[in-house]
Amino acid sequence: PKRVRTRHFHNAKAQGIPITGLTSYDMLTAQIFDQAGIDFLLVGDSAGNNVFGYETTLPVTIDELIPLTRAVARAVTRALVVADMPFGSYESGPDQALSTAVRFMKEAQAHAVKLEGGVRSHKQIKRIVGAGIPVMGHIGFTPQSEHGLGGHMIQGRGEAAEQLLADALAVQEAGAFAVVLEMVPATVAAEVTKALSIPTIGVGAGPSVDGQLLVWTDFAGMTEGRVPRFVRQYADLRGVLTDAVQRFRADVNSGSYPAPEHNYE
Ligand code: KIV
Ligand code: NA
Repeated sequence: PKRVRTRHFHNAKAQGIPITGLTSYDMLTAQIFDQAGIDFLLVGDSAGNNVFGYETTLPVTIDELIPLTRAVARAVTRALVVADMPFGSYESGPDQALSTAVRFMKEAQAHAVKLEGGVRSHKQIKRIVGAGIPVMGHIGFTPQSEHGLGGHMIQGRGEAAEQLLADALAVQEAGAFAVVLEMVPATVAAEVTKALSIPTIGVGAGPSVDGQLLVWTDFAGMTEGRVPRFVRQYADLRGVLTDAVQRFRADVNSGSYPAPEHNYE
């Protein structure tokens, strides 16, 4: 299959074809999602919660994400692989941001990078794009600043809608090829989408955006406990695996596994 390029994102918006994205942190899920035709895979710093067992994304490091990103990049034949730049790896300024982006491109063979923030990250995005590296923006609820934002909260409500639009325009002006809108009211996301020439990718931003992104462990029912309101769960993988493990354990305990057909003569 022909590889997805940033041009595909531009064309999809122009033609009104929705873009699909999922997070992935390993080779097997990357293969499955790629073969199913998902347009881009985000190696998110949500790996902090879903791979490394942290409570937030804040402790995640570049060194932790690079091997995951490399595995995903090696697995795909079509999907565009976006490496998420972790907290602390770009805030100091454009030089730091570019050297982080270069690491993901060079050491992990990512196809693009993502970083959080609109107006405040404008210089960083511009510098990275200037070096020939595609950037996906991320505004609205930005988990790396959850302490500054005061928790997991919907962003862009009421008067904050203007700031959200300013952030979106800043990301576009800096040269990003797309922008993630996380947890913003559907009406506000629709307005931002109309105002931008680059595609908007919603995660909890309603239907009037140019694409949809979900965290794979949420959408597939791997996560323990509640998932956010905006998630539709397409499978109960946690239930499927729990059942498989329980049957394996019971079979070993009862002596019914291994059976004769499993034995070497
Ligand atoms: O890390 C992540 O999974 C993300 C998406 C939820 C936008 O940044
Ligand atoms: Na992230």
